[in-house]
Amino acid sequence: RQVLVLNGPNLGRLGSREPDVYGAQTFDDLAGLCRETGRELGLSVEVRQTDDEAELVSWIHEAADSRTPVVLNPAAFTHYSYALRDAIAQRTAPLVEVHISNPNAREEFRHTSVVAAVATGTIAGFGMRSYELALRAIADMGE
Ligand code: DQA
Repeated sequence: RQVLVLNGPNLGRLGSREPDVYGAQTFDDLAGLCRETGRELGLSVEVRQTDDEAELVSWIHEAADSRTPVVLNPAAFTHYSYALRDAIAQRTAPLVEVHISNPNAREEFRHTSVVAAVATGTIAGFGMRSYELALRAIADMGE
């Protein structure tokens, strides 16, 4: 079974980006962790990152058309992208929203997620482990 792990803006800069908030591990480390967890769970995991809203929306369309489960960290788009929300609403396979930090423990503008209501569920605040937990949730759903 295939799973897409999709990442929004600035996540390619993990490791150098605000390490006090997001940790010292790089995006490549994150991608490796996701692929490794996938191997353990019998999932074929493909990890992507973009800073471009249009590209992220097109990846959600692709997942909707192929009914591929998704682990999505929408990054800052979480808080204001209705385009992303509308794309997510079109799919039927599970989609788990993930965050490295706990947005609810941070600035006020991060307390709103415009995608949460159309996701299957949300995992936030466990560092890169959030992705691992999301992959396990998808494996357990067996879809
Ligand atoms: C984030 C939280 C968002 O508020 C922020 O804009 C990000 C990363 C996280 O993984 O903790 O870019 O999605």
